[in-house]
Amino acid sequence: MKRMKDMKWMVLGASGQLGQEWVMALERDGEDVYGLSRKDLDIARMDDVKRVVEEIKPDIIINCAAYTKVDQAEVEIELAEEINIHAPGILGRVTAAAGIMLVHYSTDYVFPGLEEHRHQYPDGYPESFPPDPVNAYGSTKWLGEQQIRAQNGNHVIIRVSWLCGRYGSNFISTMLRLAGERDRLRVVNDQYGCPTFTEAVVHNTRALIENNIKGTIHLSSGGVTTWYDFAREIFRISGTNVILEPIPTSEYPTPANRPKWSRLDIRQLAGVPGTRILPWQEELERFLTRT
Ligand SMILES: NC(=O)c1ccc[n+]([C@@H]2O[C@H](COP(=O)([O-])OP(=O)(O)OC[C@H]3O[C@@H](n4cnc5c(N)ncnc54)[C@H](OP(=O)(O)O)[C@@H]3O)[C@@H](O)[C@H]2O)c1
Repeated sequence: MKRMKDMKWMVLGASGQLGQEWVMALERDGEDVYGLSRKDLDIARMDDVKRVVEEIKPDIIINCAAYTKVDQAEVEIELAEEINIHAPGILGRVTAAAGIMLVHYSTDYVFPGLEEHRHQYPDGYPESFPPDPVNAYGSTKWLGEQQIRAQNGNHVIIRVSWLCGRYGSNFISTMLRLAGERDRLRVVNDQYGCPTFTEAVVHNTRALIENNIKGTIHLSSGGVTTWYDFAREIFRISGTNVILEPIPTSEYPTPANRPKWSRLDIRQLAGVPGTRILPWQEELERFLTRT
């Protein structure tokens, strides 16, 4: 593998929440980066992927493209499968054949998220825990991971949870928007997990690449929270005045099931030199006071 400074980077899903963060960071650092959005390259088309990879000849591909609409995946299953299973298979095949490093993102939603796992795995699910997704989106992401592993190329699969960044719509932007529209908000208080901020994802992924880490690894901020406590902290830090009411999942039915326990065990990540793991509250404060 070349030194990071000499590498040619290709970022897929470059107009998404994480993709934009990646392209901005690499451009800021003067790296040789090609950011491709869906209109530049549909990653589900094998011939197009091959052609573009042959033209650009990247040393590393960062795949931020995915089908991410959790509830809609229940009804748009074929489209979700194409983007989350079939396309990673193509990327795995093309990168393995060409000797290119592939970084792929997955999700906490691959895990069953059972209530009792909160007590059995208080530090979160370890990388080795057997996935058993509770919804269609999680199933497609899990099968997509396996497509990549099956190709035996140089890859790292990074599972993140509750992703938030300045370029996308996410829980923080939704809460702030709703607080501007209503006096009172009801937020689920029995689903646990940990927010992950896109800036930290980019920083920590670069540390993983620099240290030549391969395989599967979990990445989030430090700590654990519920959506309700996360919302409370968003409103406290931003000085937003809204009445917030905690509710159980049963009072907020959604088309797709949600895991009750979504924390990822990030102790492997913490052992990698150069990583930055801050408590989620600190990351949130940085995020809200910067944007
Ligand atoms: N968001 C979360 O809370 C969360 C949580 C855990 C894990 N993750 C994972 O983290 C990664 C990044 O998520 P994100 O929030 O940045 O997602 P995002 O904002 O939805 O971005 C995904 C991007 O992929 C593009 N895309 C979709 N189909 C494509 C195709 N066939 N060819 C090329 N591009 C395509 C989309 O383009 P269009 O907009 O044109 O469709 C979009 O720009 C994903 O792997 C996701 O599964 C996300």
